[in-house]
Amino acid sequence: MTIISHCTLETLTGAATALRQSRLVIFPTETVYGLGGDAESEQAVRRIYEVKGRPLDHPVIVHIGELRFLDFWISEIPDYAITLARDFWPGSMTLVLPRSQNARDFITGAQGSVGLRIPAHPLALQLLKEFHSQGGKGVAAPSANRFGEVSPTTAEAAESGLGPWLSPNDMILDGGPCVVGIESTVIDCCGERPRILRPGAITKEMIKQSTSLEVDESPGQTRVSGALENHYAPQAQVHVGDSQIPGAGFIALGAVSTPQGMLRLAAPRDVDEYARVLYRSLKEADSQGLTSIVVIPPEGDGLAEAIRDRIEKARTKKV
Ligand code: TXA
Ligand code: MG
Repeated sequence: MTIISHCTLETLTGAATALRQSRLVIFPTETVYGLGGDAESEQAVRRIYEVKGRPLDHPVIVHIGELRFLDFWISEIPDYAITLARDFWPGSMTLVLPRSQNARDFITGAQGSVGLRIPAHPLALQLLKEFHSQGGKGVAAPSANRFGEVSPTTAEAAESGLGPWLSPNDMILDGGPCVVGIESTVIDCCGERPRILRPGAITKEMIKQSTSLEVDESPGQTRVSGALENHYAPQAQVHVGDSQIPGAGFIALGAVSTPQGMLRLAAPRDVDEYARVLYRSLKEADSQGLTSIVVIPPEGDGLAEAIRDRIEKARTKKV
């Protein structure tokens, strides 16, 4: 498995062709790296599930390069979702909408809806553009990690997590470290108002402002794999808040000093940097063989809320 680090237009045309041949391509997005396959190819999507070790009934996000490909995948769209798409795409937002017959059960986990996103990374957009120009309609891409593990924010992290399960025909495109660092906000748009299924960089306030609607906060029926406990977890046990554990890793905003005897893994200056370095730091603890990590979560709403959500999931002890 080779990582392609200097992606030219030629590389991306080749990667798009590989996708059209039902091969898998790991590609960067602004949130995390995705494990991509042609969303119309059952063979490709089955392999995504195999490589990830993910249960078959979990839906995957379909990535498109332009708004005009939305129609292919959906049967209807409320006005507020059109507004969200116009305001935040390309960007860290996934819209869950009623599916068309083109969104087959192997994409949707046999649900009546499909998740769609236009990512903001230039390399991802160029890849999608090439893919569309070769007749492709969308690229299914979950985060490029084994099921339950921390999402990769670099090509190396994707390679080290999935390498053993990839075949020599698959490709990894290196687009540098992801600038957002945590997965997209997933918004259910199947009801009268938007409902957040997974918090992310597009915040509740931004959604309210864009749509002039209150976000539906009632508990929903939709299954979200990212909403499972025991998700996004490193091998090391994550402890949240002030704990004195000699030899443990330590993650907190830079303003918080490192307790004696602990090993600083990250000292982000602000919440944006916190999101960007969180997964990398959790993985760093594992590669250093640490058994515990103490994490002081950031306070406040917006992105801080999404970071706390991921920290909470990372703390769940693996069984
Ligand atoms: O930032 C991201 O969203 C990354 C990059 C690669 O785009 N992708 C990602 O995919 O995080 P994944 O499969 O690891 O997480 C997708 C989330 C899951 O929680 C899944 O359950 C939810 O989106 N989802 C996808 N389609 C859905 C649907 N039809 N209904 C409800 N939830 C859906
Ligand atoms: Mg994931």
